[in-house]
Amino acid sequence: MAEATKKAFVTGHPIKHSRSPRIHGHWLAEHGIDGSYEAIDVAPEAFADFLAGLRANGYAGGNVTIPHKEAAFAGVASRDHAANEIGAVNTLWFEGGTLWGGNTDAHGFAANLDDYAPGWAGNGPAVVLGAGGASRAVIHALKQRGVRDIRIVNRTLARAVELRDRFGAGVSAHGPAATAELLRDAGLLVNTTALGMQGNEGLPADPALLPGHAVVNDIVYVPLETPLLAAARAHGLKTVDGLGMLLNQAVLGFERWFGVRPKVSAELRALIVADLVPKP
Ligand code: ATR
Repeated sequence: MAEATKKAFVTGHPIKHSRSPRIHGHWLAEHGIDGSYEAIDVAPEAFADFLAGLRANGYAGGNVTIPHKEAAFAGVASRDHAANEIGAVNTLWFEGGTLWGGNTDAHGFAANLDDYAPGWAGNGPAVVLGAGGASRAVIHALKQRGVRDIRIVNRTLARAVELRDRFGAGVSAHGPAATAELLRDAGLLVNTTALGMQGNEGLPADPALLPGHAVVNDIVYVPLETPLLAAARAHGLKTVDGLGMLLNQAVLGFERWFGVRPKVSAELRALIVADLVPKP
């Protein structure tokens, strides 16, 4: 008997703008795998039932995005180390009959910097702008990669303090007034705030305050070149856009569901970049 088609999904609310089906669809075709990856809109009140029905509905697993990452964290039977550290689950899979939840955002973040700014982890103190869910994944990755001085800056200081307490040694919390002083000797600046996103134009910090060897990364990827990255580039600094984090976080889920570790190729990136440009 032929093996059944392997099914995976991304769920969120809303979900129609997700790029994940294109990414996984590209890899399924590239590897000639008999599989599917669909976007499923699930309202928050229906999420627990959705999780409970995954196995009966024949899914090998899937991705979870806003606003379900915390509910997925609470709803799985087992979690990997990254999910526990970050407090959110973005990837689901089964081991035996057990539903596992993992978090691949930190891997995506670090792999993106490895691709475009090799050696980044040894570049000096890191300034992280923002203290939401994305910031937690970034801080976990920085700690994993041995960055010893991590400076969280957030509009709402209390949220930065919460993360400092969560992640402990080597992590400090600051309000925006401290930014200039914190940037002066930083080797890495990461924006995880919504500032700079399409429709929310603005500069979350002035990259001209950084030393010349600093790397600037925005995890926002629409637009691909955010005002922060444009200003950093104009100042002669090395910049890394956020698309590579999205592409790299997808790798580990695909491997779990379909059994092949896919590559983040120039062709895949071009395919998704073309999709970011609004069609006339
Ligand atoms: P995510 O899960 O994507 O990180 P989030 O939890 O909503 O999203 O966090 C958004 C982050 O962007 C927060 O750090 C938020 O600052 P506050 O904690 O003060 O709300 C930050 N943010 C959003 N809009 C901002 C703005 N206009 N200026 C500065 N920071 C902003």
